[in-house]
Amino acid sequence: MKLYLDTANLERIRKLNQMGVVDGVTTNPSLVAKESGEFEEIIVSICKEVKGPVSAEVVSTDHDGMVREAKHLASLDPHVVVKIPIIPEGLRATKTVSSMGIPVNMTLVFSANQGLLAAKAGASYISPFIGRLDDVGQRGMELVEDLVKIRDNYHFRAQVLVGSIRHPLHVVEAAKIGADIATMPPEVMEKMVQHPLTDIGLKRFLEDWQKARKEKPSLTT
Ligand code: E4P
Repeated sequence: MKLYLDTANLERIRKLNQMGVVDGVTTNPSLVAKESGEFEEIIVSICKEVKGPVSAEVVSTDHDGMVREAKHLASLDPHVVVKIPIIPEGLRATKTVSSMGIPVNMTLVFSANQGLLAAKAGASYISPFIGRLDDVGQRGMELVEDLVKIRDNYHFRAQVLVGSIRHPLHVVEAAKIGADIATMPPEVMEKMVQHPLTDIGLKRFLEDWQKARKEKPSLTT
């Protein structure tokens, strides 16, 4: 399973990338709007840091505008994946853009039908927003199950990229279902590595070692 960071904050990406488990990054207009600096510069800097797919979203809502933006974004770095919303013009644009060899991440997917259409249009990634579904009383993970089943039934090349993740349990559930990718806010990845028993266990190991060193000087380090 691939793990992506869902942020446009370079500092947090750099810090977490040091752990060596970040496979890619997703951004969206709201995330980019929180950061200072030009959109293009932010995307290029992220691509330099993480050598994996980096999603950058178009803001046009018509076919021609989306295609124009997609070509521009793809020219910034070979790692750029163009994010296009699942609306009728977005599907059209996905067909055009993916046939040019530019990978597309179809975003704002809230139903299995939308995911099916995205896969047929040639999207490389399908992004269900599970947290936002949970927020309105629908089980986001059920959508992930449906999309994984549809992907497998028809051997679609599109990967299921689970977005709008709110906590580490979402990641575990997505992994058990067989989603290809989970993209998460930095704080969720930070929480994934933490466990109080690990901290207690490590503290005890180190204390025992220090105690033993006093009694047995042969123990080094
Ligand atoms: C995914 O690609 C989106 O950027 C993201 O996961 C949206 O998450 P949110 O619902 O927390 O805004």
